[in-house]
Amino acid sequence: MWTPQDWRACPIAQAPSYPDAAALEAAEAELRSCPPLIFAGEARALKAQLGRVAAGEAFLLQGGDCAESFAEFHANALRDTLKVLLQMAVVLSYAAALPVVKVTRMAGQFAKPRSQPTETIDDVTLPSYRGDIVNDIVFDAAARVPDPARMLRAYNQSAITLNLLRAFTQGGFADLARVQQWNQAFIAASPQGERYGEICARIRESLAFIAACGLTSVNVPQLRSTEFYTSHDAMLLNYEEPLARQDSLTGDWYACSAHLPWIGERTRQVDGAHVAFLRGVANPLGLKCGPTMTPDELLRLIDVLNPDNERGRLTLITRMGAERIGIGLPPLVRALQREGRQVVWSCDPMHGNTVTTEAGLKTRPFDRIIAELRACFAVHRAEGSHLGGMHIEMTGKDVTECTGGAQLIDEVTLADRYHTHCDPRLNGSQALELAFLVAEELKSERDRRRIPNALAAE
Ligand code: PEP
Ligand code: CO
Repeated sequence: MWTPQDWRACPIAQAPSYPDAAALEAAEAELRSCPPLIFAGEARALKAQLGRVAAGEAFLLQGGDCAESFAEFHANALRDTLKVLLQMAVVLSYAAALPVVKVTRMAGQFAKPRSQPTETIDDVTLPSYRGDIVNDIVFDAAARVPDPARMLRAYNQSAITLNLLRAFTQGGFADLARVQQWNQAFIAASPQGERYGEICARIRESLAFIAACGLTSVNVPQLRSTEFYTSHDAMLLNYEEPLARQDSLTGDWYACSAHLPWIGERTRQVDGAHVAFLRGVANPLGLKCGPTMTPDELLRLIDVLNPDNERGRLTLITRMGAERIGIGLPPLVRALQREGRQVVWSCDPMHGNTVTTEAGLKTRPFDRIIAELRACFAVHRAEGSHLGGMHIEMTGKDVTECTGGAQLIDEVTLADRYHTHCDPRLNGSQALELAFLVAEELKSERDRRRIPNALAAE
């Protein structure tokens, strides 16, 4: 019998060392008494949608900040990121005629893995920054001490974020009739923004036609609202465990911190604490698969995480890098096909393509991001499988963090608006460019495989 505490007996990677055990216990107890952030029925609905993705009947779009922060928490920033996600979803669903399952990296994406437990600057060594849910980014001895009270602040910020997300997506902002208003000025001025404007014009024509047939956002709720789900790296188990709750309907346990928790590349040890925790919750799960993942390792992880081979339960998020994907991915796809394992294959083209510039800024060249995505489509095509989704780090702001793209950001202009708290993100215009590219791949895939599109199927 699984219990939410099982992970405590397992070796754990990437865990902060909290110096004050009593304060940690108090924070965990308080979280245990807090309401769940998401509900079991919602997690089940997402699992069903991901089942459709696994079957090739929908596409998964997962995106948002690398790390949320306490300092940069503003309703407008959240709204702008949401706008870009909505735009991407319109491009994908319009061009590829596939429903898009939308999942944000928001409302809980605070904890970050680190390659080193400590950081040294000018002979001073302090604990590494592990995300705002653990400690402060400022390089100062007191600020870097892991503070369990931060978990409560992260919980509260997540609750507010979810409230905003639900209001934006259900309260009229996501109404398809507003499709043009999601195009922010700096994006509208770019070539992608113009292409997007053309789609908007066609959607408006279609809406006018169906309105003439009597279908409007007043009487068709699907036109005025959209479903959004949340996800994050379930890295900080001291936060996740108290938010695990037993569903009164089914008796199953759910991680109630997010609809789709995922296991990161550095915490996916099959005997480790993160797998021990997440195997017991009934949510759909994500699993990052980096370049060192072997077929045997993956099969053992799937045995533990999805023993019943349930469709929609497991989303494999490959993040190998443009150079490695062609070598690393085919053996994984073949092994799963041989064993008949049901998964959603998603591509994270960000985390395997990070480089440091001469000036010391971490960046991701846009052409490598595109190269990994294209290669991922090609591998799945060659293996008779299909790419079901993409996972990206992006923001609605006009930042300059990834080089390249139609705006031709280079190593010099990179410093202009480099604001990230952690990894370099795509800006709104780059994210949209990516959506157009993926839409073309999906469209040609559909034409090739002659999959009936969603409209024809209904
Ligand atoms: C992330 O998604 O922010 C992340 C750290 O990814 P990974 O675990 O794949 O390195
Ligand atoms: Co990241």
